Formats: sequence, C-alpha cells, structure tokens
Amino acid sequence: MAKNGSLTAAKDAKQDEFYTQLDDISFELKHYRQHFRDKVVLCNCDDPYESNFFKYFALNFNLLGLKKLIATCYDGSPVLGNELLLDFGETTNEPKKIAYKVEITEVQDYNNDGAVNLADVKYLMQNDRNVISILKGNGDFRSKECIDLLKQADIVVTNPPFSLFREFIALIMQYKKHFLVLGNQNAITYKEIFKYIRDNELWLGYKSGDMSFRVPDYFEPRETRYWVDESGQKWRSMGNICWFTNLDIQKRHEELDLFKCYSVEEYPFYDTYNAINVNKVSDIPCNFEGIMGVPITFLDKYNPEQFELIGIDRYVEDNPNYGKRFSIGGKEIYARILIRNKKPQKP
Ligand SMILES: C[S@@+](CC[C@H](N)C(=O)[O-])C[C@H]1O[C@@H](n2cnc3c(N)ncnc32)[C@H](O)[C@@H]1O
Repeated sequence: MAKNGSLTAAKDAKQDEFYTQLDDISFELKHYRQHFRDKVVLCNCDDPYESNFFKYFALNFNLLGLKKLIATCYDGSPVLGNELLLDFGETTNEPKKIAYKVEITEVQDYNNDGAVNLADVKYLMQNDRNVISILKGNGDFRSKECIDLLKQADIVVTNPPFSLFREFIALIMQYKKHFLVLGNQNAITYKEIFKYIRDNELWLGYKSGDMSFRVPDYFEPRETRYWVDESGQKWRSMGNICWFTNLDIQKRHEELDLFKCYSVEEYPFYDTYNAINVNKVSDIPCNFEGIMGVPITFLDKYNPEQFELIGIDRYVEDNPNYGKRFSIGGKEIYARILIRNKKPQKP
C-alpha cells in the first residue's frame, strides 16, 4: 500500500513538469503592471535561467520598477542547465541535481550593446557571485529556507506543481502574500480553494482555457493534445488552465451583460436544493432573485459588485447530501457554483 502510494506520488511529480510560454506570461502580466513597482517578486517553483517566469521578470525588471527578483530552482528540475550552465564552484559534479536561488536587485546593460536583454541577464548570473547561491535543501517551496524567502516577498508569481496546488495556495495564504499563479480550473472545485474564492480572497485572472506547455523528453506520447515541434521539443496542451490571483484587476469590476429572462420551463429547480439550474453562463437570467447554479466557468466573469457567491454544490453547507452534486429528476448535474444576482432587474 505504502509502496503504491509513493509510486503514485513519484508519477504525479513527474507529470508536474509543464513549462509556460513567455507569450502566455506577458499576455497576463500586462494587466498587473501597476502592482509591481518597488516590490519583491518571488518565483518559487522555477528554473532560472530556463523558466520564462524568470526571464519575464529579469527582462522587465526596470520597466516594472522591481525592488528585487528571487527565483528558486528545485533539485529535480529536468531543464536545469539546458540553456545556461551555471558555475556552482567546487561543490558539485552533478549539475542536474542541485537546488539554488537567484536574487537580482538590478539589471543593467552590462555588455554595452545599448539594450538591457537576456545577454545581460546571463552575464549577471555568470559573473556576479552575489546573484546565485546554492540552497541547503532541495528547493521544496515548503522547506524552511524557501519559506524564509517567501517571507521576504511581496508577490509570488509562478506555475506551481499541479499535484501540490492546494498546499501551495495554503502556504501563500498563511503568509498573507499577493500572488499570481497558473493552475487547473478543476482546482476551483476543491473545497479548500473554493473557500478563498467565496470569501473574495482569491479570484481568476484574465486568460482562462487553452494553454500549451513545453514538456520534458520523458513525457510519453499521447493521442491528443500532444505534439513534437520541428526542433524535437515535446508539447502538451490543456483546455482548462487559468490564472489564480489576489491582485486587483480591471476585469473583476466589469459587469456581465445578461440577456435572458427567467422562465419556469427553461430553468428547473434542483431536486433537493432551492436553486434554479443554469446550463450556460450566457443564459443567466437578468431578473431572478433567488439562488442560481451556474457552470464553474462563471468565475471567469465574476464581479463581486454584481453577484454574491453562495457556495459550490457539493460543499454548500445546507446541501442535504453534503459532498454530492445536485440532481434534476434524479439525473446528476455537472459541477455548479451557486450565485445570487445582487441587482436583479425588476419586472
Ligand atoms: C509546472 S512546472 C513549472 C515550471 C516553470 N515555473 C514554468 O512554468 O516554466 C513546476 C515546477 O515546480 C518544480 N517543483 C516540483 N516540485 C516542487 C516542490 N516541491 N517545490 C518547489 N518546486 C517544485 C518542478 O521542478 C517544476 O520546475
């Protein structure tokens, strides 16, 4: 039993290696620029120099007006050293198995080519002894030394291992940090995550849905959502990726236009819960005053001034079948979030 458990954990950990594209990062980050001036940013599940999170912040260090960029590399990272071999001195002859941190407090045009670019970042990492240092442990974001870095940080930005998402968010919340992290939309339905969403301590960022990631060579081919590009790089895509954040964004203040009106025929009540079922976010009626069950994709459009979040079907306190989804005529309905319109249209 224990053996199976640890095998599963190892398999899950291997499936955690998804590398985010620079375009996806900069597309999202452009909406948050105002939050970063004079802030310490931590990328704590990263692979400096290979990760695009690190590259994004190093390249935009001056534009964003950062105070400091900290990035840590986990010792199991399979991409370590792929683009830039770092000199860790005499301490190791196994450069692929090393955990380290990068701390940057300024980025300048070191090579005098008239621009601050990745060549300068490389120069800095290879020549400034204060920038890179080896961690004592394995770089696990839960380790004491990584938590000490978390304490220094104002904003955490990363793509944490999907299998540790709950723990990752719990830790950031415990230390009351701002964050912008990538995750799977399914995480919305985790009891522990939804609680933060309901209490307006966490919400979704801009991009939601399809995203492609580079994956390491050891990933097995799949029938769907998998390809190898002309350079031999393996890719996977997923249709349910989104950003989770607690940084304020304009989108959160935009109202969803509601076009439909309530009718008994189109919006049946659930068998054992006093709410109507709405199958599509675009079908939310404008004039219903009670509770409505809507698909989880609603959160992409959620504005707390327009709607109140009551709960999630399985775990809403007054669900008589707590832990189970709702049904209509005995037929189970897919995951629903329970909401109430704060300003329903009057007849
Ligand atoms: C989904 S990948 C994202 C990598 C990178 N941030 C990116 O998006 O390009 C998750 C990263 O977390 C690292 N990792 C796995 N377990 C970890 C742990 N317990 N603590 C810190 N990092 C971990 C992996 O090595 C991997 O680099």
